[in-house]
Amino acid sequence: MSKRIAVIVGSLRKDSINRKAARALVQLAPPSLSLELIDIGGLALYNQDFDLEPPSAAYAAYREQIRQADGVIFVTPEHNQSMPAAMKNAIDIASRPPGQNLWSGKPGAIISASPGLHGGFGASSHLRQSVMCLNVLCMAQPETYLSQAHKLFDEAGEPREDGRKYLTRFINAYADWVARLAA
Ligand code: FNR
Repeated sequence: MSKRIAVIVGSLRKDSINRKAARALVQLAPPSLSLELIDIGGLALYNQDFDLEPPSAAYAAYREQIRQADGVIFVTPEHNQSMPAAMKNAIDIASRPPGQNLWSGKPGAIISASPGLHGGFGASSHLRQSVMCLNVLCMAQPETYLSQAHKLFDEAGEPREDGRKYLTRFINAYADWVARLAA
């Protein structure tokens, strides 16, 4: 049976390059993985007071999606050399309340995409630091920072040859990582 993999995209905008990359990963994934994009746009900004109350319907549904996932892929843009607030919010929500860190032990991977030359390296590094402390078992290689990433997709949002090559290498390595951790 294929492993259920949650894909978290840190961009909320309609024409997001990172969402194009995430959608391509869904298509390119080998049969051992079943990828599902998780919507984080409707999640209220996390407030620690929420830990003292029953969760909102949106929080509960989101947390359940993470709970049920066998692994997680973070697809992140770079905002001011870090991950976007929406991504950090999504990470924080599923790490709480205390003692209920849903990320722990899941095989994870990070990919970043930017129209700039550094490919979102800063976002990826900050994100890695956060999820490592939550005990996501993060794939180390291949580090994948898609630079000038707008050029990797055509007008229809499909990956061009280079985009397909980088994304295929990434998702195949991740499938191996998931299999290795499951063994
Ligand atoms: C950016 N962008 C950006 N790009 C980058 O390479 N390094 C950076 O530090 C930043 N900083 C930044 C801050 C803010 C607030 C915005 C809105 C944008 C540009 C960013 O990479 C570009 O808008 C991407 O297209 C965002 O990814 P999506 O939405 O296309 O997935």
